[in-house]
Amino acid sequence: MSNNYYITTPIYYPSAKPHMGHAYSSIIADFFARFKRIQGCNVFFLTGTDEHGQKIQRAAEKKNMDPLIFCDEISKTFKDLSKTLNLSNTDFIRTTETRHKKSVSNLWNILEKKKEIYLSKYSGWYSVSDEAFYSEDEIENVDGKKVSKLSGSAVEWVEEESYFFKLSKWQKPLLKFYEENPDFILPESRKNEVLSFVKSGLKDLSVSRKSFSWGIKVPSNKDHVIYVWLDALTNYISALNYPDENDDLYKNFWPATLHLIGKDILRFHAVYWPAFLLAANIKPPKRIYGHGWILSGDEKMSKSKGNILDPIEIINTYGLDPLRYYLIKEVSFGNDGNISKEKLENCINSDLANNYGNLCQRVISFNEKNSNLEIPKKDNFTESDLKVLNTFKSNYDNLINYIDNQNINSYVSFILDQLFAANKYFNDEEPWNKKDDVNRLNTIQYVSFELIRKITIMLYPIIPESSLKVLKIFGINENKIDFKSIKDNDYLKSKTKISKINILFKKIETND
Ligand code: MSP
Repeated sequence: MSNNYYITTPIYYPSAKPHMGHAYSSIIADFFARFKRIQGCNVFFLTGTDEHGQKIQRAAEKKNMDPLIFCDEISKTFKDLSKTLNLSNTDFIRTTETRHKKSVSNLWNILEKKKEIYLSKYSGWYSVSDEAFYSEDEIENVDGKKVSKLSGSAVEWVEEESYFFKLSKWQKPLLKFYEENPDFILPESRKNEVLSFVKSGLKDLSVSRKSFSWGIKVPSNKDHVIYVWLDALTNYISALNYPDENDDLYKNFWPATLHLIGKDILRFHAVYWPAFLLAANIKPPKRIYGHGWILSGDEKMSKSKGNILDPIEIINTYGLDPLRYYLIKEVSFGNDGNISKEKLENCINSDLANNYGNLCQRVISFNEKNSNLEIPKKDNFTESDLKVLNTFKSNYDNLINYIDNQNINSYVSFILDQLFAANKYFNDEEPWNKKDDVNRLNTIQYVSFELIRKITIMLYPIIPESSLKVLKIFGINENKIDFKSIKDNDYLKSKTKISKINILFKKIETND
């Protein structure tokens, strides 16, 4: 199995400042990237902004701004957010960059040369908000307005000369591809959605627009700009220096391991993107995972509804790691989820402050009083010691499988079970009653430190900043974290000094 792991977030429209939905995609991708790094993989983690098309052009016009200057400003807020969210991305791509434009023009030329693209006329519905073409049966009337049944966004009638991609021709090859790669689309429910869409018949896809200019020009016909989705999807290879197929990045990381996306953009990723690639004789990515939405109350966030959740506000109030923890643990991955103040505060108080923070503080304070802030020397492990310690080893392969199958929920529940077990171990073993059995007193401490170390390594992809503070106690810094070491039961060297830490998570005063 290759040791290279390439994960991407969708590239975000810089039409308005980032919201919680964007933060969610990015945090989940960061979780996988960090896990794979500590597992020893060579990780490329890409995020960025999707800057062309009518949606952006109109947003810039509304502000009376040149579209590039407009994009420069908002793209920067996305880049800043990636720092605020502590993302470990390798690159941040903007579709207005030369490297990307070059890559898109090249892909277009190949498709044209292979006669996969032809000139005709489009007449039909278009949603600028989704940058998507919709057929008559995907449209409905709501309050006298035509909207997409799928997204609810307003559509407008478009009639113009357009280049078409021969998508219809790829229906059968796509179905064959899905059959041969049963895990290409996850979760299963989304895969079924895509299969039934493709089985119902594919029409050729309009891939250029003529009535506005903000985009990458069709190389052979400057009156047209390339359809923004063909432009945007190509970011995943332009960041690897495609078309230079001999470039190390391209050679090492394509096909991508995982395109992480929201469920609303599944069709573009699971149908159009592999079709473009197959037509250009490029391998499709290995997996598309369509996650659910973060709802505000019960609704999707949108500017028009005025219900946008701002990640920065939550981070300013509660801190970054609690938000990351909440989104990863509390939202059942693959499904929709929402954020409520009560649930977030409960997570902080019970999981982070009580179960995790307290365990660390208790064991360190006990050690300070009894062993002078030093890893004590252990005696032989008892059965109860081995029981708590060995769970990590016996579940090691399962844990890696959870991550490789994007089963975040099982990964998190394992951590919670171990946290519970570690707290129970410390309580049940009552080291404070073992003052006359120094060997046992030391061994209980040793085991407790080992448990903290193992749990903290597992928490690192979720709450990196806090985990690093704890690992520092043991002198483990970020580039020394090795996931494999959760299998070791005697990793810590006795007599090494440990340091104290400040309170990791402050408890929030609640009314109940
Ligand atoms: N620019 C396109 C993606 C191109 S990828 C080649 C786009 N941008 S977006 O900014 O509208 O959305 C980016 C991602 O954020 C999508 O995966 C979308 O599903 C996700 N989210 C937007 N709102 C969301 C929520 N409320 N909740 C969770 N994710 C949602 O689409």
